[in-house]
Amino acid sequence: MIVEKPGKKIAYFHASKFGNGEKVAEEFQRLMADRGVEVEVRHIAHARAKDMPYADLYLFSAPGRMGKPRGKMRRFLRRANLPAGTRCAVLTTEGAPRPDPKTGKMPDPAAAEKWQRVIPVMLKILEAKGLKCVAEGKVLVTGMKGPLEEEWERKVAAYVDKLAPQV
Ligand SMILES: Cc1cc2nc3c(=O)[nH]c(=O)nc-3n(C[C@H](O)[C@H](O)[C@H](O)COP(=O)(O)O)c2cc1C
Repeated sequence: MIVEKPGKKIAYFHASKFGNGEKVAEEFQRLMADRGVEVEVRHIAHARAKDMPYADLYLFSAPGRMGKPRGKMRRFLRRANLPAGTRCAVLTTEGAPRPDPKTGKMPDPAAAEKWQRVIPVMLKILEAKGLKCVAEGKVLVTGMKGPLEEEWERKVAAYVDKLAPQV
């Protein structure tokens, strides 16, 4: 009897408001499908944190809000019913650094890092639950509501390259 080896599965939860994160999710899903990895994409508004589906890896994707991940995603992560040791990854959409309108200067990266804590906040919540994060990444948007930066598909592809062997 031939027993088919079951394929790998990623459960991808995002909190996109303006659609950029949703586009990233679709591209990620398409590229992972090419590698034989099934990706189930869900907006957190249509998911129940207490009732997580089975997956080999859980990916959480949030847009930035005031230096942090969107509040709804922070709540979802805190409530996510996943046992310690579960493998996960994060992929954010964040505003590209822009020059100060008064001085025309770009923000100092060290100062921006102190304020811009989208990925660190997500990791802190996940690590407090004992989850093991195997990859983190961000795709930038050029305005407050988008669009995605040029060549964003290449960033998603690089992220997929990094993550796929770890699923
Ligand atoms: C009220 C507001 C606050 C924002 N604050 C931040 C922020 O602190 N850091 C950041 O990187 N992006 C910030 N952004 C831009 C978001 O990153 C951007 O809207 C988001 O990535 C778009 O993703 P979505 O289309 O999936 O919702 C903010 C956007 C809005 C509307």
